[in-house]
Order: sequence, then structure tokens, then C-alpha cells
Amino acid sequence: MAVEKSSDSLCFFVNGRKVTEENADPETMLVSFLREKLRLTGTKVSCGGGGCGACTVMVSRYDPLSRTVQHFSANACLLPVCQLAGAAVTTVEGVGSTKTRLHPVQERLAKAHGSQCGFCSPGMVMSMYTLLRNQAAPSMERIREALGGNLCRCTGYRPIIDSCRTFTQESQCCQGNGGVGCCMNAEETPGGEPSTPRLFPTEDLLPLDPTQDLIFPPELMRVALTEPQQTRWFRGERVAWVSPVSLEELVLLKSTHPQAPLVLGNTTLGPEMKFRGVVHPLVISPSRVAPLFEITHTPQGVWVGAGLSLTQVQMVLGARVEALPQEKTELYRSLLHQLRALAGQQIRNVASLGGNIVSALPNSDLNPVLAAGGCRLRVASDAGGSREVPLDQDFFRGFRTTLLGAADVLVAVFVPETRPGEFVRAFRQAPRKENALATVTTGMRVVLGPGAVVRDVQLYYGGVGPCTLRAARTGQALLGRPWGEAMLQEAYSVLLEEVVLPPGAVGGKVGFRRSLTLSLLFKFYLEVQQALALMSTTPEGVQSTTQQGVQSTTQQGVQSTTPEGVPERELSAIRPLPCCIQPGQQGFQEVSGSQSEQDAVGRPVMHRSAPAQATGEAVYVDDTPPPQGELFLALVTSTRPHASILGVDVSAALRLPGVLDMVTHADIPGRKARSFMGYEEELLADKEVSCVGQLVCGVLADSRDRARRGAAAVRVRYQDLPDPVFTVEDAVQRESFFLPRRRIERGDVCKGLETADHVHSGELRLGGQEHFYMEPQSVLVVPVGEETEFHVYVSSQAPTITQEAVAETLGVPSNRVTCHVKRLGGAFGGKVTKTSILAAITAVAAWKTGRAVRCILERGEDMLITGARHPVLGRYQVGFMEDGRITAADLQYYANAGNTVDESTLVVEKMVLHMDNAYNIPNLRGRAVACRTNLPSNTAFRGFGVPQAAAVVESMITDVALCLGRPAHQIREVNMYRGPSVTHYGMRFDPENLWRCWEEVKGRVGLGPRLEALRSFNQDHRWRKRGAALIPIKYGVAFSEAFLNQAAALVHVYKDGSVLVSHGGAEMGQGIHTKMQQVVSRELGVPSSKVYVSETSTASVPNSCPSAASFGTDANGMAVRDACQKLYKRLEPIRTKNPKGSWDSWTRAAFLEKISLSATGFFRGPDCYMDWEKMEGQPYSYFTYGACYSEVELDCLTGDYRTLRTDIVVDVGQSINPSIDIGQVEGAFLQGLGLYTLEQLSFSPGGLLYSRGPSQYKIPAVCDVPLSFNVHLLPDSHNPHAIYSSKGIGEPVLFLGSSVFYAIKDAVSAARAESGLGGAFPLDSPATPERACLACATPFSQRVPVSEPGSFTPWALNI
Ligand SMILES: Cc1cc2nc3c(=O)[nH]c(=O)nc-3n(C[C@H](O)[C@H](O)[C@H](O)COP(=O)(O)OP(=O)(O)OC[C@H]3O[C@@H](n4cnc5c(N)ncnc54)[C@H](O)[C@@H]3O)c2cc1C
Ligand code: FES
Ligand code: FES
Repeated sequence: MAVEKSSDSLCFFVNGRKVTEENADPETMLVSFLREKLRLTGTKVSCGGGGCGACTVMVSRYDPLSRTVQHFSANACLLPVCQLAGAAVTTVEGVGSTKTRLHPVQERLAKAHGSQCGFCSPGMVMSMYTLLRNQAAPSMERIREALGGNLCRCTGYRPIIDSCRTFTQESQCCQGNGGVGCCMNAEETPGGEPSTPRLFPTEDLLPLDPTQDLIFPPELMRVALTEPQQTRWFRGERVAWVSPVSLEELVLLKSTHPQAPLVLGNTTLGPEMKFRGVVHPLVISPSRVAPLFEITHTPQGVWVGAGLSLTQVQMVLGARVEALPQEKTELYRSLLHQLRALAGQQIRNVASLGGNIVSALPNSDLNPVLAAGGCRLRVASDAGGSREVPLDQDFFRGFRTTLLGAADVLVAVFVPETRPGEFVRAFRQAPRKENALATVTTGMRVVLGPGAVVRDVQLYYGGVGPCTLRAARTGQALLGRPWGEAMLQEAYSVLLEEVVLPPGAVGGKVGFRRSLTLSLLFKFYLEVQQALALMSTTPEGVQSTTQQGVQSTTQQGVQSTTPEGVPERELSAIRPLPCCIQPGQQGFQEVSGSQSEQDAVGRPVMHRSAPAQATGEAVYVDDTPPPQGELFLALVTSTRPHASILGVDVSAALRLPGVLDMVTHADIPGRKARSFMGYEEELLADKEVSCVGQLVCGVLADSRDRARRGAAAVRVRYQDLPDPVFTVEDAVQRESFFLPRRRIERGDVCKGLETADHVHSGELRLGGQEHFYMEPQSVLVVPVGEETEFHVYVSSQAPTITQEAVAETLGVPSNRVTCHVKRLGGAFGGKVTKTSILAAITAVAAWKTGRAVRCILERGEDMLITGARHPVLGRYQVGFMEDGRITAADLQYYANAGNTVDESTLVVEKMVLHMDNAYNIPNLRGRAVACRTNLPSNTAFRGFGVPQAAAVVESMITDVALCLGRPAHQIREVNMYRGPSVTHYGMRFDPENLWRCWEEVKGRVGLGPRLEALRSFNQDHRWRKRGAALIPIKYGVAFSEAFLNQAAALVHVYKDGSVLVSHGGAEMGQGIHTKMQQVVSRELGVPSSKVYVSETSTASVPNSCPSAASFGTDANGMAVRDACQKLYKRLEPIRTKNPKGSWDSWTRAAFLEKISLSATGFFRGPDCYMDWEKMEGQPYSYFTYGACYSEVELDCLTGDYRTLRTDIVVDVGQSINPSIDIGQVEGAFLQGLGLYTLEQLSFSPGGLLYSRGPSQYKIPAVCDVPLSFNVHLLPDSHNPHAIYSSKGIGEPVLFLGSSVFYAIKDAVSAARAESGLGGAFPLDSPATPERACLACATPFSQRVPVSEPGSFTPWALNI
């Protein structure tokens, strides 16, 4: 067994083609192999760590024993290529193609408008495709499960789900899951009307045709059946891989190389190696060692092979649950409960049971349940032979360590059946309902004897210490006691003493975690009570407590006794939250019957690139083939928040293989800083750094991995500078601001406050938000080779800004730099300024080396470096009358800008401009300032300050309602603008459409009866509360800097009649190119199919403005129209001569008659302005209005919630494309839901961003979509200020996501009433489960002692 043995060749299949790799490198993941080696770039990389599903592929294997082929989805970013020997991989390219035939999954995703930027689309397709390969007509539940591991940042998932729904055969029904949102509950069906017209026709969809699928390669079957198994070795640059074929060989290998890890799913090892730089010189793959995959049934339970994937374990346990009586499957059902929510499908398909146990994560979901359930492990080692080890408290030794020795192999796990009188339950609470590591997770088991006396009890927790923890003393205190309230109260006291977390514990959320330990025990208690009550026959030996009397907990303590079981009000603690996603409604106005067939304006035309995106053919920057001699740039970032740079030692980096050069501040030939808002921002730090994550230098190598290793080897010496500033409070105290401050005041605020019946002060703290565009920042700079000319391929929403940055940095005129933007995989404001800086640095590298240079940020780097939405502290004082009228309000906004100004002063401007939201407050003062801190610089994000500003106002309104004890929507109505109105800065407008949206939402949801139903639900449920909120938005469209309101276009018509359009807008999923095609189709009278938009290029359209401010279509549409009208006019003589001729004949004739078939168009937009001295102006062209109702159900014991229903009505004028506009509404809403309820950036006390990937930062997933999600575009709305009477819609609706926040607050308020608490209360954004649960002030959270702030260093900063 010589480690020196040379490499075997690796053989597997990709899309039906055999791949033989002679030098397979164990460090190569399948995704790199596909993209770089096979040039199959359809599979995307977004997070690289298994958390987003963008890289999903299907893996198929032949099982020679069962003689069946098994298909499963997997994340190619964590799949070592060496693991694939004998497998067949199908990528999105192998599924269907625009050149041959789309697969129905691809076709339906595209037609149902489920692809916007398209970066998630191949992954979505592959998850759904794999499901269909296993089950031709899956249930909605299976579809939800299959998509649970795939993230999309654009669509809001609704159209993706609807496209997949077309494959189900079940009625669109949850079969009685119940609750609000359940389709079996007739009164819940919104409006009860059919959704006509439809966004996509379902009649002519391609049928599912299994003959279209690639067959499993017969060669692989033959090899699996006939070829003898032999040990395989693969040897890479740094790591060797060995795959033994027997347990003996495995055990021997492990004893010879005890430090070599076993690799199964690679879901623990992979991220460690990739993100923490751990290198294992040898890894052992036991995937062919049969005993690790065996399943053995015994009369007491089942031995499950440790190598089985979690999905296989689900199948094994599911089969046992089907086969056995219920009382025997308590443990199996609890494990299945955990497995359903553990990670995404792709992870469960590869992650092994043994891997989960041995990884010993502190919050492993399985270990507490396996331990509580009394499982045993079969372990083999060379020294100890085969032995059994109990999986109990002694097994877990500390953080990520168990009692297994380094040479031990876990072979199998014994999972026992349960006996009568034995009850097992598992609970978990996570930051997101699914696909998120738990905050606290538990497994609990009790054995009851006669009189329901506790004979044995095992309580295990995860997430409350360095490893899985047994609450032994608590269990001890329960022994011998009857299962009842008195026992429980004592258990709480002991548990509180036993499970103690220091106030600064790793992971934070200390109070919440401690509260969960109690409330989950309470849930267990009730579950057992209820099970006892429901048991038809009292198990032998167990005298059900129902005979003894079950006591229910109320606020007052022990109270009523119910012989039937747990009272309904109490049972609310253990009812599952509703989860059935219904088909929603999408309403829009159809075009008039008189409109010409080929005029595409106003029709729900599919995104023009959707088929290419769904097939993986759409090209993003990193899909561009490498130019000859391309180098890769990796960046070195500061590890200190504020320090002088004493030196940068690159020698170790330069000695590494493949590392060729460096880029430092000194290398920049032109301007070394960018100028924003009058402040300078260094491209690469020279003498000083002012945040963790600031760019210091770059390393160039011949591959991305080598460049990254080089960057990791650079040593920067720092001298810390004193007192870094992190929080807004620090900044205010130190007067650390970016100027100017902004202020608007109207009326007399002091007088308004004096004359009010009531005055109230409050504050709202809003966290920031990571853009989390699925495509990370990407740049490729290619030197042309003469006259300092460069081509820049970049994922930028502002090509001109990038062009200027590159030119300025290189010291060349702009005419030498051409920026090309084909498409972006999402941007949301985050690809303007930050991208220009990255492009400039990459250009320096290309200039210095004379070679093409590619720089693609990894997700973690991207999140660290590029900033986020500004966190804001909003403070307010409000005066109001008894009838709810607000007489005066004084608001102060502090935005945490980070270390450079970027666009922060503009963001705070927009805050004070939108501080009225939809309300006419006669005396209003608002002040805003950008705080300069030592955190990464924040930047533009969809909504540009409005989501923060308006949320503070709505918080103020909610407080007024709570103070007066009145429904919040009534306070809103009393104060909303009515009739011809003037904003606080003097802009006139008519809020009629705001009211129309508002009233239409009220009518659609039937507000009065709904709120009544909510109240009665809350009375009937002690631990569940429903809440609702109806929120308006008035959003100003266009740039307040007048010069940005312009656009240009270039339209060429070719002799064959085809039209090529160039304009200044960048396609980032918002469908601008599709809308431009529609404009051309109307103006030239041609079908959209004749029109093509290739890219956005600074060579075709110079001096373009950023695609931002919801103004892209308004501006570019007018420019394109202008160009088309010029062309159409030029063709007039031809048309007059031949009025019946076709378009093609006219264009041919025009060429022959020497008429130019190329025209530029220009749009000189509105002269918006704001005079900050006078505090008045016309900063917008017009307002987009909307209103949104959301309703939630909150589990007060855990803070978990579901959005039961959301109804949005938006005024988009006359929609140019209703499917795109509805897509923007749904996507923005879900992004807003994420902002206000889910997404939490966390920083260490030293200013390091902890949340640097989808594992730590949760954006909404499929499980977050409102169960009933209805969007309507306001009919009969006209807008004289924009093209074809449409309105901008990209940003406004994001704020409506706050309706979920305020619905949660409403539910919390009902929960507080149970504890006797009334009136206004603080709830910060995002309303995470932690915050919502603690705000409910249940008896559980109130029992947890609170540590004095300042007496400890918290784990995370509250910035
Ligand atoms: C995106 C993501 C989400 C996740 N979410 C959750 C979650 O919600 N809940 C949860 O509990 N976990 C979660 N996990 C963790 C996941 O369940 C574990 O990483 C996985 O089960 C480990 O199994 P593996 O086969 O991939 O292990 P590998 O990464 O292949 O190996 C991990 C370690 O286990 C050792 N090992 C593996 N098998 C054996 C064996 N038979 N004998 C001895 N040692 C062995 C190896 O030596 C190695 O050190 C998540 C992981 C990811 C990447
Ligand atoms: S890129 Fe593989 S899961 Fe995100
Ligand atoms: S379309 Fe899903 S991420 Fe853009």
C-alpha cells in the first residue's frame, strides 16, 4: 500500500460522453472540471460552498446489486472529481438546447417567466430535471423539497414554482394542511376569481418525453458488473486520493495514515479545505467499501451503514415507518423530521450519516436525536478490531471532537425501534425555516411507566455549547416523577442552571438560545401529553396522565384540567405552521383588441434570453473563453479595521508555483484613487487601511487556485491605530461623518408637538443587506496590444463609470477603453462603484503584464469587500391627536456608511426625501447623515435609502396605533395624502392612484372580516399569533441629479430587415432588452423576433448613465424610440412607393436607394433638481404607488413564522410588459421580505464581517414565499411622464416587504397582550426569529436572566 503509487486514470461520463483523465487532481471539484476543462460553462458557481444550488448537476450511478440506475442531484462545487469514477454526470447542457430542442423543464421555466438574470436557472433546471428523472409526476411537496437547496435572488420564486407545478398531476391543493392559505378552506381562496388573462399559456407546452433523456452509459454498467474492484490512487499537486475496496484495506489505510480523513460527501471536508485553507496530503474515499453501505434489520431496530447518504437514510427510515406500528417508529419519525429541514436536497444526496456524526458539529441535527434515541455505533480499527460504542454524552468530547480515535472507522449506526411508553421528539429552530444550520436543535426521549411516571429520560441539545450536550441533571430531576406541570416547572429551573451560555458566547443570540432550551422542552412536554391523550389504548404499564389530569400552562400558572388531553389553546404550541404554497394570482390589463398582432408592447412577452439562460448557453463574464496567456488576479485584503501598513512581504507568494506577479499601489500608472462625492478612495491601500476587507494588493498567477494561494501567502505588517469606529453611536460621539448632512423641514415642528394630544419617542434600527447577486463581481480585461487599447468584459450596471475608472487609472483617454456588458447575473445596485474599482485594478494588472487578466471574486470575498445596504438608526418624536392625526414628526437618520463615502451622501438625501412615505404630516422635520466608520464601505442597493427611511416612518405610525390601541391601517388612512397634494419639499402630485391601490388591496383581501378572523384566531391560540399589516408606498422615479436623466441608443437595420439595437441600459435580469425589443416592434412595426440586442457597449453608446433609480426603461426606451422614429421616417418614401410591401422589402429598397439604415436616438430627460438650501425642489419625474397586505402566523415559542398571504397592487402605469413588471414586483417584494425579516449581517467586535456566505447569511428561499402570493397591476393608470404611459418599477416594491415585518410586529403585539403587556414596543429590523421570539415576552424568555450590557464583550457588534 505504497503512498508513492502512481495515479490511476479516472473514467466517468459527462452528458453521454466518456471522459478519461490521466492526472486527476483530488483538489479539483467537478464544477471547475466542467467549466475549465470541458468548457461546459452552463453550470454556474455562485457560493462555491454547497449553499446556493447554482452548480447543481445530476449524478447517476449503477448499482450492480439491485441492477438499477440511481439519479441524484448534487452540488458540483463540493463534488471532488475523483469521487466520480464510474458515474455519469448530466449537466444543463445535456438536458436540452436551443440548437436542438429544449427540455420541457427548460421550456416551462422560460415561458413561465422563471428566469430573470438567469444565473440560478441552470441549477433550478437540474434540480427539477433530476426529480422528474426519478418521478415523472411529482407532488408539490417533492417539488418544494427538490428546489429547497436552490437560491434565486431575482424572481421571488413564484414563477419558478409555477413552472414546476405544471408537471404535477395533483390538484393545486395541500390536501388539508389547513390554516390560512390552505386551498381546502374556501374562504381563504383569494377573491375566488380565475386569474385571467394569464401570464403564460399552458396548452402548448412540450410534453415530458423520457426518450429525450440521455441513457445511462452501458459501458459503465458493464464495468460495474464485470470488472474486478481494485484500489485506486489519484495524485494531485498537493493531495493524494486513495479509494480502497474492502473494510480491511480501509482500516489498514486508516491505521497507516491516521491523519488522513475519510471523504464521503465532502460537505464538511470540502468547505474546510476551500475556505479555511486546510490541506490534507492524503484523503481516503471509502465509497466502495460495502459494509459502510449495508442495511441490516434486527428485531430491535436497524443497522444503517455509516456511508449512506442522508437521502438514503431518509428512505430507509421512511420504509420502516411505513412497515411498522407507530409506537415502534418514534425515533425514526423524529430523525425524518430533522432530515427534512437539514440542508438542501443536493447536500442530503451526498452527505453521509457517518460524516454528520463524526463531523460533530455543535449544532448537528442528527446527533442529539441519535443520542437521545440510544443509538449505538459500530466502529472498526486496525488496533481494536470491530467494537460497539454507545452514542451518548461521552461520545462528544468538545468542539468537533468525539471519542473516536484518529484511526477509527465508523462502519454502521444502530437505530433502535421504540417500545410502548417510549416517546421521542426532535425540534430545531434555525435562522431560516429550511436549508439553514440550526440555532438550537434537540432530541428528546422519555420512557413512561405506570402512572405516567418517568422511568428514563434523555434530553440532548445542539447549538448551546461546543458540542452536542446532554441535559443530564435536568433529566435526573424528572426521573420518578409523573409527567405533569409540576415536574415541568422544576425541569425549567434545573435546565436554566444546567445549560448556561456565557453572554459573549460564540454565535451570539444567547438569551434566545437559552429561552429555546426551555420552550422546546415545553413543546416536548405537550407532544407527549398529546400523544398520551390520543393513544387509543393505554400502553401496558403506562397509565395515561389523561386519567390523572393534564394541567395546562397559562400566564397565571397551573390551571385547568382536561380529561381529553391538551386544550386547543395550548396545543397551538405544537401545531406545525402551514406550508402549502398555493397557486397565486397575477392580474394585469390586457392590451386592447385593436392593437396590431405584431405590436409587442403591453404583452407578457417572455424574457428574450430566458431559453438561453435555462439551457446554460447564456454567457456571463466568467463564461468567456480564456484569451491566450490569460492570468488570474486574486486580491489581498486588510485584516485590520484601522492600521498603518508597515510593509507588504510578497516573497513567499512569489515562490509558489504559478504565481507570476503582483499589483500594488505603486504599480498604478494613472490616478491612484477614485473620487466620489468630493472624497478620494484609494484603489489599493498605500500607507493605511481603514476597514477589514480593504484592498491592499493583488496576486497574479496562471490559475485561479494558484492566485488565491498566492494571495493567502502575502504577509502584510500592520501597526494598529487607536479606537476604530464601528457603530453609528460611536460615529455620532466622535462626530465622524461624511458631509454634507441633509435636512428638510416644513411647518413648525415644535408647535406641532406642543399642540398634540400625545407625544411619543421611539427608534428603529435597521440592519444592512448584502446584495447577494448570484453572479459574483466579475471582470476580464484584455489588452488589444497596441496604442494602450483595452477591452473590458465586466458585470457592471454602469459601463461608462467602469470605462472612466479604467481609463483614469491607466492614464489613457476613454476612447482606448471599451467596456462590454453582455448581461449580469443580478446587481441590485452593487455593481456600480465597487465594480469600477475592481475593473480598474484588474486593468492595472493587464497593463503591467500585457496579458489578459481575469478577476472573479469568490462569494466570501465579494461579501467582505463590496459593502452592502446601509444599516440605519432612525430616531423619531411624533405628536398626534386622539383621533390618530399626526400633527408633527421629527426624524433623524444615521446611516452607517463604512470607511469611504461611495454614494452614501446621496443615499441619505433620498432618505429625507422619502421620510413622508405616503403621509401628509403638516409639521415635519427630517435630518440625515452618513456616518464614517471602520467597516467596509456601503453602497447603493435597490431602493437607495428609501426602504430604510420609509420603514422608520411606518414604525412611527405603528407606535401611534399601539399607543392609541387602534388598528394601524386606520392611523395610516387618517394621515395619507388626499387630493391634490404637495410633498414636504414642495413637489405637487395627485395621490389618487395611491388610494386606488390601497382600496383595491383592501377589497381583494376583505380587510374587515380578515382582521376579525385574525382576532378570533389569536384568542383561541395561546402560543400562536397571527398578525397583519397593510402598507403603502409612494416612490419617486428618476435621478434627482438632472444630468443622469439622459440616454442614447443606436439602431441599425440590416438589408435583410433584421434590427440590431444598442442602448445604454445593462441587462441584469430586469428585462430591459426585452422591453427595448417591444419598443422597436411598435415603432418600426416589426415582430420582436426581428430585433436583437447583443450587448451594452461603450463603443456603440457612449456616456451612458447607470441602469438604476428604476429609470432604465424610461430613459433608454425613449432613446430607442427616437432612433426608430428617425429610421421609420427615412423609410417613408419607400413605404409610400410600395405601401403593401413587407418590412424586408422596404429595407432592401432603402439600401438600394442609398438611405442610411442606422440611426442614433437620444433622450433628454426631466430636469429634476433639489435645492437643499431652500429645502424644496422637484427631485423626481413622478411617483410609482403601491399597497401591500401581508399576514403571518408566528410561533411565539421559537419566533418561527410563515407568511400566509400577501396581496400587492401596484401602479405601473400602462405596463410595457406585464410579466416582467410582475416579476420585478415579486422579486423586489421577496428581497424586501429578506431585508426586514431574515437577512442579518454580523460583524465581530474587531470589525470583521462574519456573514460571508449563504451558510451564515440567509436570503429568502422557496420556503419563504408567501403561501398565497397575489400581485395585481393597477388597471387604467396613465403616466404622461414616461414612455407609453408606463412607470418605473424596479425598486419601489422592495419596501412593501416591510408589510411582513409589521405583520410580525402585529402578531408579537398580540403575544405580548397574553403577558399583560400593551402599548408601543421596540422591534428592530430584521425581525429575525430571535427578535420576534424575545419581543413576545413569553414566560420562557422572561425566565432567562439578562446580562448587563457593558459587562461583557458581545460576540457580534450591533452596528
Ligand atoms: C450547505 C450545508 C448545509 C448544511 N446544513 C446542515 C444542517 O442543517 N444540519 C446538520 O446537521 N448538518 C448540516 N450540514 C453538515 C452536513 O450534514 C455534514 O457536513 C455532513 O453530514 C458530513 O458528511 P460528509 O459525508 O459530507 O462528510 P465528509 O465531509 O466527507 O467528511 C467529514 C468528516 O467526517 C469523517 N468521516 C466521515 N465518515 C466517516 C466514517 N465512516 N468514519 C470515520 N470518520 C468519518 C471524515 O474523516 C471527515 O473528517 C450542512 C453542510 C453544508 C455544506
Ligand atoms: S456554487 Fe455550488 S452550491 Fe453554490
Ligand atoms: S433569475 Fe434567479 S438569481 Fe437571477
